[in-house]
Amino acid sequence: MSTAQTQAKGSKNALPQINTSLPGPEARRVLELDRTYVSPSYTRDYPLVAKRGQGMMVEDVDGNTFLDFAAGIAVVSTGHCHPEVVRAIQEQAATLIHMSGTDFYYPGLAELAERLASIAPGKEAKRVYFGNSGAEAVEAAIKLAKYHTKRDKLVAFHGAFHGRTMGALSLTASRSIQRKGFGTLLSGVFHTPFPDTYRGTYGVRPECASADCLSYLENELFRRRVDPDEVAAIFIEPIQGEGGYLPAPADFLQGLQRICRKYGILLVADEVQSGMGRTGKWWAVEHAGVEPDIICAAKGIASGMPLGAVIARASVMDWTPGAHASTFGGNPVCIAAAMATMDLLEREYIANAAHMGEFIMSRLADWRERHKIVGDVRGRGLMIGIEIVRNQKTREKAPDLRNKLVHAAFQKGLLVLGSGDTTLRLMPPLIVNEEQADFAILTLDGCLEEIEREE
Ligand SMILES: Cc1ncc(COP(=O)(O)O)c(C=O)c1O
Repeated sequence: MSTAQTQAKGSKNALPQINTSLPGPEARRVLELDRTYVSPSYTRDYPLVAKRGQGMMVEDVDGNTFLDFAAGIAVVSTGHCHPEVVRAIQEQAATLIHMSGTDFYYPGLAELAERLASIAPGKEAKRVYFGNSGAEAVEAAIKLAKYHTKRDKLVAFHGAFHGRTMGALSLTASRSIQRKGFGTLLSGVFHTPFPDTYRGTYGVRPECASADCLSYLENELFRRRVDPDEVAAIFIEPIQGEGGYLPAPADFLQGLQRICRKYGILLVADEVQSGMGRTGKWWAVEHAGVEPDIICAAKGIASGMPLGAVIARASVMDWTPGAHASTFGGNPVCIAAAMATMDLLEREYIANAAHMGEFIMSRLADWRERHKIVGDVRGRGLMIGIEIVRNQKTREKAPDLRNKLVHAAFQKGLLVLGSGDTTLRLMPPLIVNEEQADFAILTLDGCLEEIEREE
């Protein structure tokens, strides 16, 4: 029995139990089928074949159970199959599954819009557009920004991930494999350095990352490559997700807002991963006191039902009927799930995310001293990145060791995922408690020790 399991013995919480070798026999059958028939474009890190989920736990098809610190890539904010979310889905499914907000009215669409509008930062009234995913929200934000400003250039950041549809992909600069083979993307998109305070980027000093990146944007990009008067919007993830769980410093976000206001550029916060309470506030930008003109939300918004939203200042969302729409966007069942999710987040889980974020960070505070391959620990709320390096002094990236860590955790019943080149991310459901966090931390601690011994 591992230290983590010993400590958790007698707990009221269910904890992982691995009964077969992984993958087990039934999992192997599904993997074979998947290998034959499913698109090979997906990137699975390890062979988890899920059968059911409850709260923080996932059971696989062979009866093994896992503690979920990946949350379906930051999606099941209220945990797996929260009874209140399930009830809302079931009741709505028995009443009205689909109508299409594009052509008809139904109460949930307007009611959720009102609710999302009320939690977006800034005094001005907001309006909301609904789609089915993060990429669709970004796609809609691109169109809205161009429509409203009558400008056609866009700025995004090195390391950004905004989705995989052609518009969203044009803003994405996370991995070239995501763009390779797809030809010319949207024209008029410019990328600029993101303030990485650990590593810096080319020419950006980590200790002055905010100032250097703002200066590059205004004095280099805007002077030499694109006139700011032609820029419709700057898209930013307040905490880069797929890029390595990198929080943008508050002074950077504030500076970016200043630059946007100066040149009449819309500030778009892609809060698809960082939003809906994950950082301990509804939106990560709130930590910096920034008020974006447009917010993109998805992932955690409906606890696993497909929904994306664009929340914009009412004066910005001025497009006319027919300009943009989606058959399924804002489907009644997804909206019911979102309403129940927001009730739960408001009632207790945003506060829990703030508390548990601090709890986990305090437990990880000495990991750089204790683990020679831990280069950095960073994040906000339940969006925490642990950067793995080969050498703390040189900060050399160690993607192989990061991947080993992810695999080793899986074998011990902990689901985590990588992010960026060399970061491990912790993004549990917002319901996580101290005991479960301790299990995850002790498991990772043990895995790190094993990996370090082998090094
Ligand atoms: C910040 C951000 N924006 C957009 C997306 C795309 O969302 P989806 O996969 O729902 O299209 C993601 C997905 O990881 C994301 O992290």
